Amino acid sequence: MFKPEKFIDEKVAELKGQIKGNAVIGISGGVDSTTAAILVNKAIGKNLKGILVDTGYMRKNEIGYNEKMLKSLGVNTRVIDASERFYAKLKDVIEPEQKRKIIGELFIRVFEEVAEKEKAEYFIQGTIAPDWIESGGGLRDTIKSHHNVGGLPKDIKFEIVEPLRDLYKDEVRLVGQKLGLPEEVYQRQPFPGPGLAVRILGEPTKEKAEIIREACAIVEEEIEKASKNKEMVRPWQYFAVLLPSKTVGVHGDVRAYGNIVVVRAVESKDGMSASYSKMPHSVLERISVRITNTLKQHINRVVFDITNKPPGTIEYE
Ligand code: XMP
Repeated sequence: MFKPEKFIDEKVAELKGQIKGNAVIGISGGVDSTTAAILVNKAIGKNLKGILVDTGYMRKNEIGYNEKMLKSLGVNTRVIDASERFYAKLKDVIEPEQKRKIIGELFIRVFEEVAEKEKAEYFIQGTIAPDWIESGGGLRDTIKSHHNVGGLPKDIKFEIVEPLRDLYKDEVRLVGQKLGLPEEVYQRQPFPGPGLAVRILGEPTKEKAEIIREACAIVEEEIEKASKNKEMVRPWQYFAVLLPSKTVGVHGDVRAYGNIVVVRAVESKDGMSASYSKMPHSVLERISVRITNTLKQHINRVVFDITNKPPGTIEYE
């Protein structure tokens, strides 16, 4: 059985021996990178600099929320707005693996710039076991290149340290809990490093990022409200995906021609397999009505994904 206290003691001792200088950590605000940041903070304190990169593909209000939360946890944090750089690099890119590689590389380039200024030689990542397993670690097939593994460029200028790389999500949550993270943080649903870019099928333009950001916020708010009201149990992960195809609809008596949003909600333990959430139709209906009202100009159809993993993956790219 996994013992979080033992893991923390041993890892902090190991990190103290391993990191001999300044380190930077890319924090997305998710459970993995936040837990990694607290763990490394315990080992090297102020020699750690937390970096929140706004890629332009973050969830609604994410940057402000994370900045506040990390500061309250004592992590020295800085926000870097690189959104226009990400949008520019992803112009005309539609192939999922290419998207992931471009995002992985740009992340590293942004961190290298920060590391140089901070005179850091170490780069901490919140990589966990499923990230490298799905990226083709060992003898396995590449399912998708997680931005922090298969998406990394070959010529990295600093040493990468991944304190959580042998853990699964449920174990990371236990470590986060023991380290004193607030429940809303260690119980947070996962969010992929490449962010909303892999929830926009086709070219992830700034305009589409705004649309899916709003749709994801609606899915999260409605599901969290319904869970609080005991209409349903909060699923393991829940979000929206923007499809590139258009369908015909009608607003009043006027023809509409708009995109489709998929609602994806799954149950899982560690993300390696998943089953779709059997959530109530009443909640789905509220989501559908709100999305088509709020995003009237763009979206005229909402569908619910009933695919398990396998054969689907949780994210669409
Ligand atoms: P898939 O889509 O492979 O996702 O079934 C499994 C879990 O991993 C998350 N995910 C990622 N997390 N970097 C991450 O840190 C990534 O590149 C990435 N891709 C997928 C996904 O949200 C799900 O929880």
